[in-house]
Amino acid sequence: MIATQRLSSLESMLAGDHHRLEHAFQAIVTRAYGGDVQELEGQWLIFQRALLGHLEAEEKYLIPALAQDRPGEAAVLLEDHTRIRDMLLELGIDLDLHCLRAERVDAFVEVLRAHAHREEHTFYPWADGQMAASVAHRTRHE
Ligand SMILES: [Fe+2]
Ligand SMILES: [Fe+2]
Repeated sequence: MIATQRLSSLESMLAGDHHRLEHAFQAIVTRAYGGDVQELEGQWLIFQRALLGHLEAEEKYLIPALAQDRPGEAAVLLEDHTRIRDMLLELGIDLDLHCLRAERVDAFVEVLRAHAHREEHTFYPWADGQMAASVAHRTRHE
């Protein structure tokens, strides 16, 4: 029972990250388009740190195991991460120059959503399955 709660909280925590990150990004876009540049830099740095932290945690703790079991899926996720990092860099430059372009914003949101969808429908359920198997294995051998 405790194990099940832990498993579902892992999935909901990661999916919750996706929602919070997208929400934070939209708030930044609204502020930038409104010409409200005060606090924008700080807000952007917080968003950037949170997004990079999410990607790094997945790459460090989850994707290596996925790569052993499903290398193709792991490669796609890592390509997504590279693309997200590249776009993040471009958006940061746009923000510095106060010229956030709508098409770049839309493309970023699209990539973030597609990536979140992929992870929430394949990667995270797989990770939960792996953890459940590991907990069951440990329970049997204790
Ligand atoms: Fe990811
Ligand atoms: Fe993710």
